[in-house]
Amino acid sequence: MQDRSGVMEKLASLGKRKGFIFRSSEIYGGLGSTWDYGPLGVELKRTVTERWWTDVVAKREDVVGMDAAILMNPKVWEASGHVDSFQDPLVECGQCRRRFRHDHVEGDVCPECGGPLSEPRMFNLMFKTFIGPLEDEGSVAYLRPETAQGIFVNFRNVQEASRQKIPFGIAQIGKAFRNEITVGNFTFRSREFEQMELEWFCHPDEAGQWFEYWLQARFDWYISLGVARERLRLRPHEPDELAHYAKVCQDIEYEFPFGWSELEGIADRGTYDLDQHLELSGKDIRYLDPNTHERYVPVVIESSGGIDRTVLTLLADAYDEDEVEGEERMLLRFAPHIAPIKAAVFPLVKREGMPETARRIVEELRARAWNVLYDEGGSIGRRYRRMDEVGTPFCITVDGQTAEDQTVTVRDRDTLVQERVSIDSLAGYLSERLNL
Ligand code: GAP
Repeated sequence: MQDRSGVMEKLASLGKRKGFIFRSSEIYGGLGSTWDYGPLGVELKRTVTERWWTDVVAKREDVVGMDAAILMNPKVWEASGHVDSFQDPLVECGQCRRRFRHDHVEGDVCPECGGPLSEPRMFNLMFKTFIGPLEDEGSVAYLRPETAQGIFVNFRNVQEASRQKIPFGIAQIGKAFRNEITVGNFTFRSREFEQMELEWFCHPDEAGQWFEYWLQARFDWYISLGVARERLRLRPHEPDELAHYAKVCQDIEYEFPFGWSELEGIADRGTYDLDQHLELSGKDIRYLDPNTHERYVPVVIESSGGIDRTVLTLLADAYDEDEVEGEERMLLRFAPHIAPIKAAVFPLVKREGMPETARRIVEELRARAWNVLYDEGGSIGRRYRRMDEVGTPFCITVDGQTAEDQTVTVRDRDTLVQERVSIDSLAGYLSERLNL
């Protein structure tokens, strides 16, 4: 598909219709930029989460995981600099009263109605709440705006408990919250989202080489999900766009239908966070090298990606339209290992034992924990279209010949080729192609 301009709208509508993503509390009119995942969306999200954990944690001896609380002592956010520096410039239109991030508007008039914009004022992005019954300054707490701080404040705990030696990493997946001023582009910028973060602790002398290592490893990871290489790029941050904690940063960007945008940031955070926590907590959280007996604050190389943005990328990248037998087809070309439904099984007609055979096949394939659907509704052509729309890579049909020779047809979503495969070898056939 050449023209991708309307793809975000089409994805939002397909997403709702097919159960990928719904607006949060939709029956009450929704809630600004918060989203709920339906049956297919949650499958995609779990796949992203599980693949990240497998590749970044499970397969590596030098990375361990953790799971910190979302609510943390507010001193954490003073030390991290978020109370003072985690803010965006807000401007308001004097005519329609809409608000924008100053750096997201071109010129000094309202992009919606052309009215005059106010002077920018800084706006902190952290959601504030109160712990306990009193709503006073002493009971303020924040919803974490990044998961990373949960890792930094636990650096000594995790390092000592796991007996890891530098260089090593601590990984975490979890929710983060930001009171974003400008939202939009479907789930791209949400107020509640999930991050997958790796904080890699290394000796200051080795920071440069580890930065390069993680940049490459993380770029390749998106390709391993099946995302088109030509729609991915690395973009170094300009000095004036660096976060308050970062010395250097590069974004992995994807070419969304609305333009190149950030998927993940790889940053050299230096010793900033551990230094800050050491100072404000007064606790010696430095690392003691068991060989050299040197005590030092390690440098952190961070890779911080968004699970929701990755899901959106997979949807946008998979979206396609073509023509089959003179009919327009809308489809999602997910890589088979990513597809939320792995296969669908159809009886050609609802008699002659076909439904029973089809259900038996579904049961056998589901026993492997593959999400396989049974569908007997409507013509075969319609059933194919339904599965194409949600990106199911294989459709299996039980037909008249099945009773004679115990074979079924397997139709490939992308090539449309149909092969006859014996029921006995079906699981092996799919397993090879699903690449799980
Ligand atoms: N700990 C570093 C950090 O939080 P960030 O660049 O602000 O860095 C990292 O965020 C990633 O989190 C982004 O690359 C993006 O994938 C995701 N993210 C950030 N803000 C988001 C939002 N409002 N909605 C969805 N995802 C977001």
